[in-house]
Amino acid sequence: MAQRNTEITEPHRPQWNTTWGFLSAAIGSAIGLGSIWRFAYVVYENGGGAYLIPYFVALVTAGIPLMILEYGVGQKMRGSAPMAFAKVSSQWEWLGWWMVIFVMFGINCYYAVIIAWCVSYLGFSLTLAWGADPNAFFFQQFLGATPGPDAIGEPRSSILFALIIVWIINWLITFFGVEKGVERANKIFMPLLFILILVLVGWTATLPGAKEGMIRYLKPDFSRLLEAKVWIDAYSQIFFTLSIGFGIMVTYASYLGPKTDINFNACVTSVIDTVVSLVAGLAIFAALGYMAGQTGKPFEQTVTHGIGLAFVAYPQAIALLPSFSNLFGLLFFLTLTVAGVASSVSILETFSASLIDKFHYRRQTVVTILSILGFLGGIIFTTGGGLAWLDIVDHFLSHYGLFAACFLQCILLGWIYKAFRLREHANSVSLFKIGRVFDFSIKYLIPGILVVLLFNDVRTDLRHPYGNYPWLLLVLIGCGWLVVTLITALFVASRAWRRSLHQES
Ligand code: PHE
Repeated sequence: MAQRNTEITEPHRPQWNTTWGFLSAAIGSAIGLGSIWRFAYVVYENGGGAYLIPYFVALVTAGIPLMILEYGVGQKMRGSAPMAFAKVSSQWEWLGWWMVIFVMFGINCYYAVIIAWCVSYLGFSLTLAWGADPNAFFFQQFLGATPGPDAIGEPRSSILFALIIVWIINWLITFFGVEKGVERANKIFMPLLFILILVLVGWTATLPGAKEGMIRYLKPDFSRLLEAKVWIDAYSQIFFTLSIGFGIMVTYASYLGPKTDINFNACVTSVIDTVVSLVAGLAIFAALGYMAGQTGKPFEQTVTHGIGLAFVAYPQAIALLPSFSNLFGLLFFLTLTVAGVASSVSILETFSASLIDKFHYRRQTVVTILSILGFLGGIIFTTGGGLAWLDIVDHFLSHYGLFAACFLQCILLGWIYKAFRLREHANSVSLFKIGRVFDFSIKYLIPGILVVLLFNDVRTDLRHPYGNYPWLLLVLIGCGWLVVTLITALFVASRAWRRSLHQES
């Protein structure tokens, strides 16, 4: 359908230097805070090792096909999500914008704040500043948490300061471009991350009680496979953890050479993300097992996830270590920081690429302005009420926003563009070929699953307000964020494409 879009002209497109550079950037985006602090808990909560079956099924039936789809469309159209979608159908450009806007001015704003907490905790590790009560330290002293999202309070200056550091790092990496910035950084970050995780696993495995923790983590309970929730959790986790449905993989693939293998690289990205998450889970549960033994608390009571795991439970375990606790703390928070920064950079790069594609702005200008805006957008999450805001925005964007965007992407690429065309494209550059089951997955299975996920979320949220927050605030903050980003997307999509850099300058 290229003839419909002749007005889209392309500025010079950067390209990855090596396939490994591309892969490490894509893996860097996929492995994030979620892979480290969420995966293990979901495994534990959903039947231990048995959960790996639904997870694997979700990976093969949804994760890998979508990864192939996003890589395929990015490579074929040579454009970020708005450009790639506009080339498919000019009426759908807004969808690309919506994805990249809500991930940049939503997810990235709070994601960077969590990385800022990790940076602060890197410093706290030096003196084990959280002391004997990491819970009170984190919520009261560090966050200054207010009772709820309506009591916003003041921004915390120490968090603001750490947030500036995070955005400077994001800015520096993205400023130097795809090859000299994003690729180069990820080529260092990914091996570093793998080593850090292995060191953490090796270290925690030697602690007394570690084995007990690891067994609790992976001990399979196959009876749980009969529960719908376990399958729903597996599918809903796949999209977020693989950074799919955000336009990120489309953008990263748009910097590929026209002959780079798609199918194989999509599998490698997905599998490495899974393996790293699984292995990181060992370090999490080994430490929890150790802590349960040391404190005499029942294991179930030591297990937490997300923020509580990283900033309360783990610091407590670190303080209990017999030796080198400071070093361990440094390594742990460095792991989270590196994993987080690689993901955050992928979002910044995606949004920058979208603007550069459409308006032909200079990269350096775009990246600088976006980094400042990303920092400013994050300020709300550094306030006393910030944690509640973060929780609400995260829930709405990484559930409703992501599922809806991913569903629409399947409609656009599976039905309007036609899945078989992307399959044929992917097969034409790939060593191993995928069959028609790909089309089935993109056209029927994944949209069907996404409808189930959306329906399930709506049902749960209507029964019980999310996080016990007041309805009005949930609607204003959560739905408001989605609607405002959608309107902005429609507006940006309605602007004309800049014809040519040279004609106008
Ligand atoms: N995949 C990342 C994780 O597991 C999260 C992420 C989402 C990163 C969206 C970038 C964009 O934490």
